[in-house]
Amino acid sequence: MKIVKLGQQGLQVPAVGLGCMGMSEFYGQSDDTKSLKLLDEAIEIGCNFWDTSDMYGPFTNEELLGKALANRRDKVILATKFGIKRGQDGAWLGMSGSPEYVKAACDASLKRLNTDYIDLYYQHRPDPNVPIEETIGAMAELVQAGKVRYIGLSEVSAEDLEKAHQTYPISALQTELSLWSRDVEKRILPKVRELGIGFVAYSPLGRGFLTGAIKKRDDLEPGDWRLSNPRFSEEAIANNQKLVEKVQEIANEKDVTASQVALAWLLAKGDDIAAIPGTRRSKYLNFNWAAQEIVLSQKEIAALDSFSQSFKVVGERY
Ligand SMILES: NC(=O)c1ccc[n+]([C@@H]2O[C@H](COP(=O)([O-])OP(=O)(O)OC[C@H]3O[C@@H](n4cnc5c(N)ncnc54)[C@H](OP(=O)(O)O)[C@@H]3O)[C@@H](O)[C@H]2O)c1
Repeated sequence: MKIVKLGQQGLQVPAVGLGCMGMSEFYGQSDDTKSLKLLDEAIEIGCNFWDTSDMYGPFTNEELLGKALANRRDKVILATKFGIKRGQDGAWLGMSGSPEYVKAACDASLKRLNTDYIDLYYQHRPDPNVPIEETIGAMAELVQAGKVRYIGLSEVSAEDLEKAHQTYPISALQTELSLWSRDVEKRILPKVRELGIGFVAYSPLGRGFLTGAIKKRDDLEPGDWRLSNPRFSEEAIANNQKLVEKVQEIANEKDVTASQVALAWLLAKGDDIAAIPGTRRSKYLNFNWAAQEIVLSQKEIAALDSFSQSFKVVGERY
């Protein structure tokens, strides 16, 4: 198993974690009984770096993980997030990073997760109305109180990351990175490295697109959030397929899957990068977990790098 050290504070995680979001919302129907079985299997194989957020569900994804953790909390490295406010009815209520909110959100997450500590607590999105130092100050107090072990941020600018890190050591930045989302490589990733912070790549399979499983809008269930995402319009899907074809070509040559090539390319970017592919299926969990053993040659990496760099992806990330 490949281990990634996230930041200077001592947090170590498997290079391939498990994104749990789709088990409760966004990517079509899910089934808690099946998800709990999958979480059991993930623990068994060692895929124990789990990613959730209070806003997935909303709230039900943390509750699901809380059930999965019962009597074996110590077997899992649990990451959750706060900061994107949602109502019980699913309404979107803006961002909050106020110190009072941070503390209340953490207590609520601990209750749902059925635990007394969170291994990695992220601010999900910056709050434009609260200086990041204030939010980080409150997160640092959670560490002092023993409720949180390490802190992280998601989707912040290089400037905010630096300010935050000066306030309290940040262990991980979680942001989208994959063969079709490479913007972070310009400014964010160099800053992360300069500061000695770890990087957690979310949506490493391009929300499923890079696996080759999505060739038309009808491949997504009615109600799937991706149907409203610009990268999944009919035009975008048709255009972006060429990128998947390139990934598939290399996968065929190596006799592995496109999803494994996408993950192996990402992990080859550095020992400070962990990926958290999301899945609801045992077959995919095992493919994704095995991707850490796949070694791409320099030629294959260069081919993927140059093709994806010059490829004009149609559709914004959000
Ligand atoms: N910080 C943030 O703002 C943020 C934003 C988005 C996501 N995240 C986190 O990142 C995690 C992963 O991102 P994601 O779920 O958006 O996207 P992803 O991991 O890129 O892709 C997930 C999709 O790919 C499919 N899939 C997974 N493995 C596959 C395989 N081997 N072959 C074929 N299809 C496969 C899944 O299908 P099935 O579900 O049907 O198995 C699902 O539809 C999330 O679960 C969440 O924890 C964070």
